Amino acid sequence: MNASDPRNKLIVALDLPDVAAAQAMVTHLGDSVTFYKIGLELIYAGGMPLAERLIASGKNVFLDLKLHDIPNTVGRATAQIAKMGARFLTIHAFPQTMQAARDALGDSSLQLLAVTVMTSYDDRDLAEAGYRMNVKELVAHRAQQAKALNIHGLILSAEEAASMRAALGPDMLLVTPGIRPQGAYIGDQKRVMTPARAIAAGADHLVIGRPITQAEDPRQAAEAIVQEIAGALAG
Ligand code: C5P
Repeated sequence: MNASDPRNKLIVALDLPDVAAAQAMVTHLGDSVTFYKIGLELIYAGGMPLAERLIASGKNVFLDLKLHDIPNTVGRATAQIAKMGARFLTIHAFPQTMQAARDALGDSSLQLLAVTVMTSYDDRDLAEAGYRMNVKELVAHRAQQAKALNIHGLILSAEEAASMRAALGPDMLLVTPGIRPQGAYIGDQKRVMTPARAIAAGADHLVIGRPITQAEDPRQAAEAIVQEIAGALAG
């Protein structure tokens, strides 16, 4: 993957109800988009063959499967996904899970992204689930564990990108959802950042769904975002 192509910084979340709608979106977006995220909804609606087709056609695929199980199961599942040729896979940031997934990669080019604490959890939710740390502490703790276990990257909000970049150094991939171009509909996202600001804060890839998939002209929306990313990269 060419890191200097600004298109590779944009990951379009294919959060669409069925494979036909997702395929039509991919066809419409054409070469304006090089990287797609496929999540659980589409996976359970027959999305895995779509992911394989996208990979075969030269696209980068991020499988947002958030694996978490006993090490043997995580390792074997990761090995299957690595064989497919996907680029990114999410796993929950538990030490056993991260270690097992890392050990299963072999010489594949699959990169692991750890989910530290789900953004739907606040301090009270963590306490209720039996944790002693608050969200901030647990995110920092798990991020350091991910780094120590050679996990490639983290999913985090763009607001956390600058401090995580400072804490974790240049090599950790930072992948941020919750991105909204200036003036775009915010929807259910609470803390949003523009593409240019997220890149300036140190994000490596931006996950963007509805501002593109629900735009009147998705291709035009994607091209405008890539332009904005290119501008931010140029400084
Ligand atoms: O449509 P939108 O741009 O809000 O989509 C963002 C994507 O990133 C969705 O697939 C969503 O599930 C995912 N995501 C998120 N916030 C997180 C983790 C993942 O929005 N904390």
